[in-house]
Amino acid sequence: MQIDLEHLHYWMCAIRESQDPKRTLDAFWRGQINSKIWLIEEYSKVRNYSANLPRIDIHGGWVGVLASMLFQSGLKIDVINSIDIDPNCEKIANQMNQLEYQTGRFRAITSDMCSYTSNADVIINTSCEHITQDEYNIWLNNIPKNSMIILQSNDYQIPEHIRTASNLEKFKEQSHLKNIIYSGELKTQMYNRYMLIGFSDV
Ligand SMILES: C[S@@+](CC[C@H](N)C(=O)[O-])C[C@H]1O[C@@H](n2cnc3c(N)ncnc32)[C@H](O)[C@@H]1O
Repeated sequence: MQIDLEHLHYWMCAIRESQDPKRTLDAFWRGQINSKIWLIEEYSKVRNYSANLPRIDIHGGWVGVLASMLFQSGLKIDVINSIDIDPNCEKIANQMNQLEYQTGRFRAITSDMCSYTSNADVIINTSCEHITQDEYNIWLNNIPKNSMIILQSNDYQIPEHIRTASNLEKFKEQSHLKNIIYSGELKTQMYNRYMLIGFSDV
């Protein structure tokens, strides 16, 4: 995974111009970045080559680092929307993805993922540990049946993680995906991260 200097420039701008630069830097811990590289690698193996350029929605997209890494991965992508409930994330994520924002390929949107209607080809939620099971069930129910779903969670016990999974099997049980085409686990220095790729219907 290569990060180019032009994108790096806008990453630095986004951090510098954040209200809380230290908090924005939390998105760049090694475990965070490695989890996103892992997601991109596994998605690249299962993506639908015959389809049109995919539209991707990232729910709980935070400050937009995953979107930027996807744009830089070399994968063919039409547009990415990054949806986050925290209004502070919108400006930072748009700055983080300034090159694609300027060309209309990226938008950060402030919304609760549970009430946001996505019609993207690929829907990513790497913030599963930040919503309750009831919220997750509502969220999954809103996802189009033919969208590919990519989920990540972890076993990292901190107060803001309200629904961790103690292992991959537990994460599968929580996630209710009927058709799982990839499942795996990544050990980071602080925690284990779990990922599922699949569809909500068979
Ligand atoms: C700390 S961040 C991301 C952590 C995640 N492990 C990752 O690497 O992507 C979690 C994000 O989820 C967002 N979030 C929490 N509940 C949400 C909801 N109901 N709708 C949209 N975003 C939400 C938070 O605002 C925050 O930006």
